[in-house]
Amino acid sequence: MRQAVSLARGELPLVGHAGRLAVDPLGFLEQQRTTDEVVVLRLMGRKCFLVNSAEAAMQVLVARQDCFDKGGPFMEAARELVGNGVITCGAEDHQVQRPVMKPAFYRSRVAGYAEVMRECAEEATSSWTAGRPLDVGAEMYRLAALVVARTLVSAPAGKQAAEVMADALPQLLRGLLRRMLIPAAWVHRLPTPANRRFDAARLRLDTAIRGVITQYRLQEPGRQDLLSQIIAGDDDSGRRPEDAEVRDQVMSVLAAGVETSASLLAWTFQLLARHPDVRSRLWEEIDGTLGQRPVTFEDLPRLSFTKRLLTEVLRLYPPTWLLSRIVVEPTEICGYRLPKGADVLISPYALQRDPNVFPDPGRLDPDRWLPERLTPAQRQSFLAFGAGRRRCMGEFYGMTETTVALATITRTWDLHPTRLSRVRPVPRFLLVPAEQPLVLHQRTPQRGRP
Ligand code: HEM
Repeated sequence: MRQAVSLARGELPLVGHAGRLAVDPLGFLEQQRTTDEVVVLRLMGRKCFLVNSAEAAMQVLVARQDCFDKGGPFMEAARELVGNGVITCGAEDHQVQRPVMKPAFYRSRVAGYAEVMRECAEEATSSWTAGRPLDVGAEMYRLAALVVARTLVSAPAGKQAAEVMADALPQLLRGLLRRMLIPAAWVHRLPTPANRRFDAARLRLDTAIRGVITQYRLQEPGRQDLLSQIIAGDDDSGRRPEDAEVRDQVMSVLAAGVETSASLLAWTFQLLARHPDVRSRLWEEIDGTLGQRPVTFEDLPRLSFTKRLLTEVLRLYPPTWLLSRIVVEPTEICGYRLPKGADVLISPYALQRDPNVFPDPGRLDPDRWLPERLTPAQRQSFLAFGAGRRRCMGEFYGMTETTVALATITRTWDLHPTRLSRVRPVPRFLLVPAEQPLVLHQRTPQRGRP
């Protein structure tokens, strides 16, 4: 039966729901989950449909995905940075772009990246000193930027671009959140200090990426990395992309692949520092599997607790806390009619904390993901990597990277909190932990299983 969509609670004059969303987005989204499956939000006069159930989300992302496309305030904001790259482009361009990018993320290719990922983790931690406080968010950010730059852009200029990126991206992502919450372009063209910082950071990053592209255009073909594939274009049509298109794809991979993994690792260390029982089980698995030797790609299937832990951290703090779409064909979702042109928002953060699906949802419990405890409802509600045609391309890459980094760092370092208080999630463009230093303690891995 068709149902009328009701207005979400918490609307303020003029700004609508943007006020509550800007002040406490996570609390606001969780509160909405307890109401109807679909509600209307007004963001500065713009109407958005917020999807509040996993079933409705799966209809948008999978069952009726042809009626939706990338769009809405979240994607419009992202386009400011990544242009028409694979994360933001419409369905028609996506059909061309995804097959070009996909081979770089095949299992066989990722297996080859695992060693580079371990070397990056060793290099990034080589300057750590016992007893020192560590800004774990910033360190994981540098590590993730290094990994993406080394695996996807193997030329020397890739490393310089990674440095610029690590510097510029946080500024850019903060600016994107403002653009998403206040979807009025003129506000972001005002000469405010924040807008000027955003423009300067974008120019720095653009210049660095153009430098890498020029280097690749001049070199002989034959590199096996993603950038070489993008530049080579589509073999079937013989079409070679322009510099601007290549730039958008590189930006897309940077935007999609750096802060997501960095946030996952930073959250994992913050939570491990506050859950000694979980930390002991992680050590037991890593020491038992590796003993005194470094981790390899072949070890990964045996690190099952580590995988459950990372999955549970993604459930609690999905970096992509909000997904957005636009309706391209009028449709009905769980009985609610969505008109053409409407914006649609889905919050993995809110859905992954539904107590009816995940009992005691705020608790870190990696064993929820044991095969014998995993329910179909949990599977359906876990949207940290999205779903459907636009599901994350870097899922296997990201899980490999974070497992390798976690195993490498845990073998040598134990990170302790300076305060035991809960770490506050900060919703920027992605969801990251509030800055809270951890103190470094050296540890010696125990002997492995014979
Ligand atoms: C490990 C943590 C990661 C998480 C939680 C994550 C999450 C996501 C999500 C939710 C989407 C879908 C967005 C939507 O439907 O609007 C997505 C798309 C994407 N991700 Fe990831 N991601 C991660 C890591 C990575 C990495 C490491 C890379 C690349 C190096 C990557 C590359 C991509 C790309 C290219 C897309 C666009 C796919 C398409 O539209 O066809 N991701 N990611």
